Amino acid sequence: MRVKNFSAGPSGLPLGVLKKAQDEFLSYHQKGFNIMEVSHRGKDYEAMHNGAIAKIRDFYNLGDEYAVLFLQGGGHMQFAQVPMNLYFGGVAQYANTGVWTQKAIKDAKILGINYEIVASSESTNFDEIPKNIDFSADADYCYICSNNTIYGTQYKSFPNTKGAPLVIDSSSDLLSREIDFKANNIGLFWGGAQKNAGPAGLTLVIIRKDLAQRVQAEPKGSFKAPFFGHVPTILSYKTQLEANSLANTPPTFAIYMLDLVLDWIKEQGGLSAIYKQNEQKAKMLYEIIDEDDFYTGHAKSHSRSLMNVSFKTPSAELDARFVELANAQNMIGLKGHRILGGLRASIYNAVSIDDVRALVEFMKEFRRTC
Ligand SMILES: Cc1ncc(COP(=O)(O)O)c(C=O)c1O
Repeated sequence: MRVKNFSAGPSGLPLGVLKKAQDEFLSYHQKGFNIMEVSHRGKDYEAMHNGAIAKIRDFYNLGDEYAVLFLQGGGHMQFAQVPMNLYFGGVAQYANTGVWTQKAIKDAKILGINYEIVASSESTNFDEIPKNIDFSADADYCYICSNNTIYGTQYKSFPNTKGAPLVIDSSSDLLSREIDFKANNIGLFWGGAQKNAGPAGLTLVIIRKDLAQRVQAEPKGSFKAPFFGHVPTILSYKTQLEANSLANTPPTFAIYMLDLVLDWIKEQGGLSAIYKQNEQKAKMLYEIIDEDDFYTGHAKSHSRSLMNVSFKTPSAELDARFVELANAQNMIGLKGHRILGGLRASIYNAVSIDDVRALVEFMKEFRRTC
């Protein structure tokens, strides 16, 4: 028996992916070993590693100016790695949409760079993506989080950076829709794998190659951050770019699982088909939330996430009862994040339309009988 898994991350993986990993657990491609048991410098591992990179390049239609990196340290490491590598003596600009950007801003402050918060939805408890985000053309980088996992908000389109590199934390909507990297001036795009792309322990990073060189260039601006010229080897994107993410031992099993997830996405029809399904699933949930006053969604409708639906019932007691009864019906992960409270249904790529249909039926029944 498998549960219906609405966890925010780590979260459920497609059944076909788990079964394939199970089939290959003792013998990868009939070779008598698991891929995690062999050297990352051997030909079997390298073929898989490069295959996964090629699939990502294909899904996002990346030009030669971009490199795909497999890093570790999770999203939290990116909060620090971004300023350490991309800050250039000018100003770094951030749009604040809640906890995940606040943590990135905190690390920018710790590192002593010159930064600005150009937009924020804090005054309304991060219930929307701020409108009219005004990034400057000469910013060293412009930082956003494309989907806020806690508040359930998501950018429908990306702000205009007027040519400055856009940095996107896509941890909770990675591989969930097509993205035009060039047209959006994306300089760096990253996400932890543990929601849409596999197990925890792997961070997928896509970087415009020229930006990886900044770490050793003469700063163009006059503001001297204390770490200039002192980025440790493994924290430099340049190191892993030049080594094809094999400068040290990568998280080989997590990359193998990502590779299987990429095959599964392809089988579904690629990112455009995945996106259509995601739209349909989210619509089903927002429809019942909007039906009457029993359920209240957190995000304003123009900013609603297709990945995380944060909502509540009329009371905290009923929220707790909802979670308890849902668990009894094998639906897990519906408790809201501790910061926002209430309820949250995370409906990542692997959550099926049938799973969402079952949740909607449960919500109707709960509203009728509670
Ligand atoms: C949008 C977003 N960014 C960053 C993080 C932090 O990721 P990690 O736990 O891999 O450090 C999370 C975690 O859930 C997240 O949802």
